[in-house]
Amino acid sequence: MKAIFLSAEKKDIIFTERPKPTPKAGEALVKVVAAALNHRDQWIRVALYPGMTYDCILGSDACGVVEAVGDAHHEEWLGKEVVINPNQNWGENPEYQSERYTILGMPTDGTLAEYVCVPIDRLHVKPAHLSYEEAAALPLAGLTAYRAVRRKGGIQKGQRVLVTGIGGGVAQLACQFALALGAEVYVTSSSDAKIQKMKELGVAGGVNYKQDGWHKELLKETGGFDVIIDSAGGDGFNLLLKTMKPAATLVFYGATLGSPSKLDMPRIFFGQYTIKGTTMGNDQEFEEMLRFVEAHKLRPIIDSVRPLAEGIAAFNDMRDGKIFGKIVLKP
Ligand SMILES: NC(=O)c1ccc[n+]([C@@H]2O[C@H](COP(=O)([O-])OP(=O)(O)OC[C@H]3O[C@@H](n4cnc5c(N)ncnc54)[C@H](OP(=O)(O)O)[C@@H]3O)[C@@H](O)[C@H]2O)c1
Repeated sequence: MKAIFLSAEKKDIIFTERPKPTPKAGEALVKVVAAALNHRDQWIRVALYPGMTYDCILGSDACGVVEAVGDAHHEEWLGKEVVINPNQNWGENPEYQSERYTILGMPTDGTLAEYVCVPIDRLHVKPAHLSYEEAAALPLAGLTAYRAVRRKGGIQKGQRVLVTGIGGGVAQLACQFALALGAEVYVTSSSDAKIQKMKELGVAGGVNYKQDGWHKELLKETGGFDVIIDSAGGDGFNLLLKTMKPAATLVFYGATLGSPSKLDMPRIFFGQYTIKGTTMGNDQEFEEMLRFVEAHKLRPIIDSVRPLAEGIAAFNDMRDGKIFGKIVLKP
């Protein structure tokens, strides 16, 4: 089968032929109809992800059809349209992941292929209102956004919320979830056009973070935020602190720009701020996220649907930030 493979020899991804996997007892073989990219895949490609291993197929997200199961107990799944929960071994505690926790697609073979084998308990029936492509765009980004918005942000109706870097897949879903909860949502982006598109989806306003004084403009326009959801980090983190209302919460799930060179700690304690890190989400949250998306008829924003064979160019576009929404690849 064709796959996007992280090669130890090349120290890069290659589009190549790999053996079709065979499901063991307790596993399902899913014929991938659509798979989606996450920034995680690009971090792995350039060896900037913890626990690096090589010679595996990348990809955490997929929607497809169950073609085979490894034992007769699970035959009811045959032919079902499914999305895959990319969590592996979250563990018992809903608050944090176990030491055995990994994500589908490094170290184990992932979804950027014609077929993927996963444990049966990773399968969920595809939300009926979503196309294969939309459902493929949901798992990793949706889970991360859902935990950030609900468990960590505790976002409520009427709260004023800022989501940064709205071109990002997680950011867009966090924005959609906050809007569905009745929050007043603002965004930042490097692109005025992306801000405009989000306004058409119900966002109240936004600023371009490439302009000097963007945080002052936001503060002037809004009076400050109850909750901020960020993944950029870097020195802009201190500017975000300046846009928080007293006793507000900042949740971050990434640090695309690295850590801030210094941290404005007095502002945090005088402001009674709560700063929370979050990563992925537990299995119950994955289930809840799917139900939430179904109940509110939400649809992930798709940048483009491309052949798997053009996956390496798609990785480059994601790396260069040339996207608005998720890139979906079709084997
Ligand atoms: N911990 C977790 O579970 C988890 C899960 C998913 C992602 N992440 C991390 O979160 C980050 C985003 O992931 P993703 O998959 O959503 O990425 P993505 O779809 O590739 O989006 C990246 C976005 O980051 C934004 N950005 C870049 N520089 C920025 C800055 N200076 N200020 C604000 N925003 C900036 C850009 O937004 P504009 O285009 O609008 O400028 C860009 O579109 C990555 O670092 C990723 O590794 C973590």
